Amino acid sequence: MTDETARILAIRPLAQGYQVLTLAAPAVAAEAKPGQFVHVRVPSLDPARLRRPFSIYDAEPETGRLHILYKTVGLGTRHLAALPVGTALPVLGPIGRPFPLDPAGTPFLVGGGYGVAPLWFLASRLPRKGVLFVGGRTAADILETDRFAKAGWDVRVATQDGSLGTPGLVTAPLDAALADNPQAELYACGPDGMLRAVGERAVAAGLKGWLSLDKHMVCGVGACLACVQKIRRPDGTETLARVCVDGPVFEAREIVW
Ligand SMILES: Cc1cc2nc3c(=O)[nH]c(=O)nc-3n(C[C@H](O)[C@H](O)[C@H](O)COP(=O)(O)OP(=O)(O)OC[C@H]3O[C@@H](n4cnc5c(N)ncnc54)[C@H](O)[C@@H]3O)c2cc1C
Ligand code: FES
Repeated sequence: MTDETARILAIRPLAQGYQVLTLAAPAVAAEAKPGQFVHVRVPSLDPARLRRPFSIYDAEPETGRLHILYKTVGLGTRHLAALPVGTALPVLGPIGRPFPLDPAGTPFLVGGGYGVAPLWFLASRLPRKGVLFVGGRTAADILETDRFAKAGWDVRVATQDGSLGTPGLVTAPLDAALADNPQAELYACGPDGMLRAVGERAVAAGLKGWLSLDKHMVCGVGACLACVQKIRRPDGTETLARVCVDGPVFEAREIVW
């Protein structure tokens, strides 16, 4: 993990409230693995304020570029969105336990909103292509699917308001695909309800399910216990894990919801 002063190289607006930041962050980019995150200090906020965690959307060790995809939701991200190209941005990372890269079957990636960010980094590093299932409330929450499709991934979209893809939850196309493809390995990033639903399906089908949890974080480095999650050890006993350093990726059987 490095504490690096990155620089904003480019800002790419996506659908409403979402954007992609490209940073010059060679030390972090050199080490980054899919599923890990960076803890960003927003310089226009009081330095005593907390850093904000963002998944690594992509990393280019050759050029030193690091990408994050984020949604403006509150004070920190509003300040982040107002920073111009060229701004120095302190980033701590890469942090956390990454996704494993050796799927036993077809990789099924399940995401919603900014949850596609670590899934793209994962898709670009997995040894085989599979299916991306993306869900959202509306079409504006369905991001960057063209990149997956161009890279050879089969993309299936569901929106709750029916404005894009299958109307309803992403679990509907996922269930249909699981029925046809018993040899899959599941990877998910999104809201807790989605993660839980994906995890339950992995357990019920006897498949591996790798879930990236999203918890409010304070230190981001394992010291404060703000981000704890109850987990089950292999011997069946329960304990608390820190999502920042013991996760954010956990196998579905580990999580006690
Ligand atoms: C491991 C990890 C990876 C993440 N990756 C991304 C990413 O790739 N892109 C992205 O846009 N966001 C990501 N997040 C969430 C992001 O950290 C929060 O949206 C951000 O910290 C909010 O800061 P803020 O000051 O703008 O919002 P605040 O003013 O702190 O809060 C505004 C609203 O957002 C909610 N919120 C704050 N933190 C979180 C959180 N961790 N999860 C869900 N809701 C939250 C608050 O409850 C509140 O309703 C990630 C979080 C974690 C833990
Ligand atoms: S955020 Fe402090 S221990 Fe995880």
